[in-house]
Amino acid sequence: MKLIESVNENSGPMSENAESMNENSEPVSENAEQTKEIAFEAVNLSFQYPDGTVILKNIDLKIYKGEFTIIAGPNGSGKSTFALHLNGLLKPTSGKLLVFGKDTKKHKNVSAIHKEVGIVFQNPYTQFVGNTVSEDVAFGPENLGFSRGEIKTRVDAALSAVRMTDLSAKDPSSLSGGEAQAAAIAGILAMGTECIVFDEITSMLDHNATGRVLNLIQELRERKKTVIYISHEPKDILSADRIIVLDKGSVTFDGKTECYLKSGIYPLPDLVQLMKLLQETGADVSEAVASPQEAADEIRKWMDKNSQK
Ligand SMILES: Nc1ncnc2c1ncn2[C@@H]1O[C@H](COP(=O)(O)OP(=O)(O)OP(=O)(O)O)[C@@H](O)[C@H]1O
Ligand SMILES: [Mg+2]
Repeated sequence: MKLIESVNENSGPMSENAESMNENSEPVSENAEQTKEIAFEAVNLSFQYPDGTVILKNIDLKIYKGEFTIIAGPNGSGKSTFALHLNGLLKPTSGKLLVFGKDTKKHKNVSAIHKEVGIVFQNPYTQFVGNTVSEDVAFGPENLGFSRGEIKTRVDAALSAVRMTDLSAKDPSSLSGGEAQAAAIAGILAMGTECIVFDEITSMLDHNATGRVLNLIQELRERKKTVIYISHEPKDILSADRIIVLDKGSVTFDGKTECYLKSGIYPLPDLVQLMKLLQETGADVSEAVASPQEAADEIRKWMDKNSQK
């Protein structure tokens, strides 16, 4: 609770949200409510680099199996550093991080944690290790010790899921940005990890490639995978069950998307701002719209109601 007290001192309404979510720390999505199994638990987690810079400060949170969580926050707030803790690539310098109850600091847990959590990074080209896309996708399951037959089945299924079968013999470094990101996602799918962390994966992609990658993530969500999606794109937040905001290494908001939108503190997607402006002029419309179609439906409903008066 130290974190919350310090947030309360420094900030306004945002701290109330942080407080209520952290006190309950209940799962917020339907998928998660069905299981209530804790995928990640950060306990008073702090991290500093050897040069002494403190990057993450006293983070206490639980992320439940099946949740779709967005981690947002300004540049340098510690999002990627936190992501690297989620599969044990970085370890807390104090406090701990548990993955399905396993402490990332304990050496004996390393391989079990790698089977549970995969990370896709912003720049897919730095992650490739194979000479061909297939070889690259096979690398993860090979490391997990699957048989040859099982590896082939997994690689074929993963490439088909990301619609990359036709490009399986290509050199990964020759792929376009969107294809490269799809190949990186296939590599994680082939490992069959329960949790997938995406760290700003669309920031280098154009509109079409972004759409393609977001569709893939939507499919993972439908398959009830635990997805942690790091982004500071305001429009992305609309798709989450839960938002965690990091600022200077501390959690300053942790709660449902609706609370985030209502808080009025954070940058909002254009569509949400439009709906809020309409509300200010007296329109009875919801601001929680995730697409132009939903906005149009909401405005149409309000207009129909008005014309009947
Ligand atoms: N190896 C390192 N040694 C010292 N400080 C580091 C190191 N790597 C990152 N940092 C610092 O840690 C802080 C948090 O970085 P991090 O990459 O986690 O932020 P981020 O929220 O992911 O930012 P962005 O939105 O730009 O990706 C930054 O101030 C960064 O300079
Ligand atoms: Mg980052």
